[in-house]
Amino acid sequence: MKAVLCKNYGLPDTLAFSEVSIPTLADSEVLIQVKAVGINFPDVLIIQNKYQFKPPLPFSRGRGCWNYSRSWKKCKSPKGWRFSHRIMWLGWPCRICKCKSFAGIYSASRTKFHRGSGTLYTYGTSYHALKDRAQIKLGETLLVLGAGGGVGLAAVQLGKIMGATIIAGASSHDKLEVCKKMGAHHLINYSTEDLRTRIKEITAERGVDVVYDPVGGSLAEQALRSMAWKGRYLVVGFASGNIPSFPANLPLLKGASIVGVFWGSFAEREPEKSAQNFSQLTTWIKEGKINQHIHKIYSLEQAPQALQDLMDRKITGKAIVQIAS
Ligand SMILES: NC(=O)c1ccc[n+]([C@@H]2O[C@H](COP(=O)([O-])OP(=O)(O)OC[C@H]3O[C@@H](n4cnc5c(N)ncnc54)[C@H](OP(=O)(O)O)[C@@H]3O)[C@@H](O)[C@H]2O)c1
Repeated sequence: MKAVLCKNYGLPDTLAFSEVSIPTLADSEVLIQVKAVGINFPDVLIIQNKYQFKPPLPFSRGRGCWNYSRSWKKCKSPKGWRFSHRIMWLGWPCRICKCKSFAGIYSASRTKFHRGSGTLYTYGTSYHALKDRAQIKLGETLLVLGAGGGVGLAAVQLGKIMGATIIAGASSHDKLEVCKKMGAHHLINYSTEDLRTRIKEITAERGVDVVYDPVGGSLAEQALRSMAWKGRYLVVGFASGNIPSFPANLPLLKGASIVGVFWGSFAEREPEKSAQNFSQLTTWIKEGKINQHIHKIYSLEQAPQALQDLMDRKITGKAIVQIAS
């Protein structure tokens, strides 16, 4: 079968389109054919050896939904599964065989392959952030930075479902238009508008209750200075490549909290709570309440281009790599 392998660390154009053998199975295992997978920001970090997890070379990524390279994965057979069982799957810990390379499997009989791939990763992160870490309440104001990105758009849609007023911040008109369609009440183009001034205008000087920040960099301190009393600032990621530092008087003056979000570690340390979250998310997916925005579907050969487009901030929502039709 074909695979896109990282044989040496580097930029997406160094990935190798290769032939690899289909894994052999023990009696209790099943083979899972990967039809489509979502591209996520850590993919571009891992291939450059810039991520906290460093798999041995060569690798094709094996953490569930990010695996855009192998067309088959193996796992212990869940009871009662048929040959044609349709599933969504993602990072660890595997609920079935506890293997580290392949993980949570969720039945998804009516979910389209493209819609299903990557959904649990982005919505899993943002649901954990808003529900467990921010404990967001009905009627609160939520500012989402990088709102047109994968986890950002998920936070917009989930925040709306959870009853918050959503302020979406992004760098382009097109990204903000998608945020609006996904439920954002207010839009800020932070490449042309001053973030603090606009937040003051929108909230009538009150500030925002929750900041969801997957970007970091220079926007972070501006957002922290724009918080309401007892606000919660969610540290989700650093897509800008810059980890911000904050003066300690800022949370003091606002009675605010800076709250870390590490969804993968949460899933590992608190599997029951994580399973409850997935149960809620899969219900919302089946009910059509959450629906990932797909920017473009790439072929397996185009996977390096998909990664490059993500690095170049060209993707709104999710880039999908289709492996089999
Ligand atoms: N803490 C956790 O558990 C967890 C879980 C999942 C992901 N993450 C992290 O969250 C971050 C976002 O992940 P994602 O999959 O949503 O990525 P994504 O789809 O690429 O979205 C990131 C957004 O960041 C903005 N951005 C600003 N500067 C950028 C730059 N130099 N390069 C790329 N994007 C830039 C872009 O929006 P604009 O162009 O509109 O500014 C982009 O849409 C990553 O750092 C990822 O590692 C954390």
